Amino acid sequence: MATATKSKSSTSAPKKAASKSTVSPATRPTTNDSMLQKFFSDELKDIYWAEKHLVKTLPKMKKAATSAQLQKAFEEHLQVTKEHVTRLEQVFEILGKKPQAKKCDAMAGITEEGEGIIEDTEKGTATRDVGLVLAAQKVEHYEIATYGGLAQLAATLGYNDISDILQLTLNEEKQADLTLTQIAESSINYKASEETEKN
Ligand SMILES: [Fe+2]
Ligand SMILES: [Fe+2]
Repeated sequence: MATATKSKSSTSAPKKAASKSTVSPATRPTTNDSMLQKFFSDELKDIYWAEKHLVKTLPKMKKAATSAQLQKAFEEHLQVTKEHVTRLEQVFEILGKKPQAKKCDAMAGITEEGEGIIEDTEKGTATRDVGLVLAAQKVEHYEIATYGGLAQLAATLGYNDISDILQLTLNEEKQADLTLTQIAESSINYKASEETEKN
């Protein structure tokens, strides 16, 4: 029965540790004053504002929707979004900072566009639902871009725990986007294509 092989000690092993010049995210010490760290914190404030803003916007989108399936999707994503707010608060806590929101002009613009769609379309129509899906998908894509980038930055800065949290949210944003696509393709788009303008 051969036990552990105590074969000749290789001479190559110690050399590996010497190659320190490459970035090793898992072990890299974090500094709280790097420009990247500051940028990362600012971006967290930005998405924190965006998520809190969405908690107020999603009920309006649900109310404006006609399809029961779409209403349900907005309701479900509202609950998920509340969780995203909580997760960001956890992230601030890990960083030893108080949660702080900074107005996200991009999200303000996207949701304003969504309100415009509600104003420009008729209540109770599938056309309005199509517009709502489009607006909601723009929101999700903004979030996907943001969380994808931030999860990567967190890892680069050595915050693997934060990266995992952001990744969790990223996956849920992707799922929300998929759900919206399915709703649009399975019924709303077709129904809207059959609607004619009244007046
Ligand atoms: Fe979110
Ligand atoms: Fe979302």
